Order: sequence, then C-alpha cells, then structure tokens
Amino acid sequence: MSEQKFLEGKVALITGAGSDGFGRRMAKAFASKGSDLVLNDINEEGLKESKKIIQQQYNVKIKTIKADISDSGQVKNMAKEVFDTFDNIFLLINNAGIDGGLYSSLKAKEKVYDSVMGVNLKGAWNVTKSFFRNMKRQRQFKPVRGKIINIASCAGTQNGLNPLIGIYSASKAGLIAFTKLWALELGSSDITVNAISPGVFLTPIYNNDPKLIRQFLDSRNVKLPIDKIGDPDWVADIALFLASPQANYITGQNIILDGGMTISINKF
Ligand SMILES: NC(=O)c1ccc[n+]([C@@H]2O[C@H](COP(=O)([O-])OP(=O)(O)OC[C@H]3O[C@@H](n4cnc5c(N)ncnc54)[C@H](O)[C@@H]3O)[C@@H](O)[C@H]2O)c1
Repeated sequence: MSEQKFLEGKVALITGAGSDGFGRRMAKAFASKGSDLVLNDINEEGLKESKKIIQQQYNVKIKTIKADISDSGQVKNMAKEVFDTFDNIFLLINNAGIDGGLYSSLKAKEKVYDSVMGVNLKGAWNVTKSFFRNMKRQRQFKPVRGKIINIASCAGTQNGLNPLIGIYSASKAGLIAFTKLWALELGSSDITVNAISPGVFLTPIYNNDPKLIRQFLDSRNVKLPIDKIGDPDWVADIALFLASPQANYITGQNIILDGGMTISINKF
C-alpha cells in the first residue's frame, strides 16, 4: 500500500454527509486516499448528490444510508446494513449536527432541547455505541484498529460557550467530554478518539451566507485574528491528518480550528 493511499481497504462512515458542508468534504478527502465510504444523512437527495460527485472523481465503493441518528433503532439498522456490504469501519466520523435556532439555554423550548441534544449528543453516542465493538475486533489494521472523529464546535469550549445558541453550546461541550471519555475507554483497544472544533465556516448550516456569519460575529463583538471565514475543506484537511498514520499517537484531543476566534472572545 502506498503512503499516498493510506486508507485503501478501509471504510469511513460519515454522518451528516448529505450536504456540501464538512460531511461531503471529508468524504471526498478520505476517498482521495482510497477509502470506501458509508454516507449517512436524513436527506436522501443530498446523499445521492454526494455519491454522484465523489464517484465522478474517485473509484471507491460508496454506500448511502438514510437514517436519523437520534433514533437508536434506525442506527442499529444502519449498522446491520453497513456490515452486509463492508467488513470494517476504520473511520467513524460523528459529523451530523443541528443548531436549533437562536435561543438562550433557559429560554429554549423543550422541543428544541430534545432535537438538538438528540442529534448532536445522543446521535453521536448512538452511532459510536453501534460500531465500537466491531472496531475493537479490527486487528488487521495494527497498530490502530479504528479512529473516531467527533465534529464538535468552538461553542462547546470554555472560551467559546455561546449564550445565543445555548443548547447547541451545551451539546457540543458534551461531545467534547464524550471524546475524552471514549478515548479513555477505547485506548487499550487501539482506537483513537479526537474532536475537531470549528469556528465559523461557510456551509449550509449558515445558508452558505457570509453576511449571516459576519452578523453573528458582530453580535458577539468578535474580530477574528485571522480575519477570514473558514472553508469547509480546511476541516476535511484536519480530519485527513487525524485519519493518517502520522496521528496514530493523538487521542482524547479537541483540535480548535477557528482563526483565533476563541482567543479573541472576552466579552459576554
Ligand atoms: N459550519 C460551521 O461553521 C460549524 C462550526 C462548528 C461546528 N459545526 C458542526 O459541523 C457539523 C457539520 O455541519 P455543517 O456546517 O457541515 O452543516 P450542514 O447543515 O451542511 O450539515 C449537517 C448535516 O447533518 C444532517 N443531519 C441533521 N440531522 C440529522 C440526523 N438526525 N441524522 C442524520 N443526519 C442529520 C443534515 O441533513 C446535514 O446534511 C455539525 O455538527 C455542526 O454543528 C459547524
């Protein structure tokens, strides 16, 4: 196997891969290194589009699975479907997420709490619970049997906690905590677990609208030290690094990718 195609023979499962956000970009990046793909989303049309775009460029196997990750039954069915086709999940990317709109944590409605926590936190837990046992058995991939990457957010970090999206913030803080817990629980099985916490990136979650992002930053009085809105490919680059053999000794970490946003926030 050439260093160029270090993911050949391996499969990446990515949740929330049906939009042109981080999910599709990470899928493309992994395919460029030879990875086969399982793409999950609730958006079936988006999944078809992701598959079509990636297959035009890369000769890898791609399975799409429509499933709501907040529903443990649907996630268990997804796991069965995956292993009907593939014999491993080397990369498990918990990427699907929703913001639930702008509400402070104490003013949010119960429905918002349940849906945001349900996708962002319980969803990642459901998916990880359904796959970690299989990952543990993947001795063929020595020295690391599998890698889990959680897409958290600056909003889940101490400097970035965001009262405007309080429930989202709490869900991402929870996901960062799970990252460390799972790294502790799975380290002895040679599985690494890390998080990436993006700042502000131009994706469908912001309606691909830079003005909306600028308004959001202004409302929090934030000036980015690197004054650029993020490109989702930069998140894919970090995910690819974490997936690479060079990152085999990194676990339990939360990589903040925010142009310095969290070091510049000092007013709440
Ligand atoms: N864009 C940013 O600036 C930013 C910053 C920090 C963190 N994030 C996080 O990055 C991740 C990806 O977001 P994005 O910016 O690419 O936005 P996005 O809206 O394009 O992607 C999210 C995807 O998740 C899917 N999804 C939603 N609920 C689902 C469910 N129940 N089951 C399965 N799939 C579901 C959506 O259909 C969508 O395709 C999210 O977790 C988000 O919170 C984004």
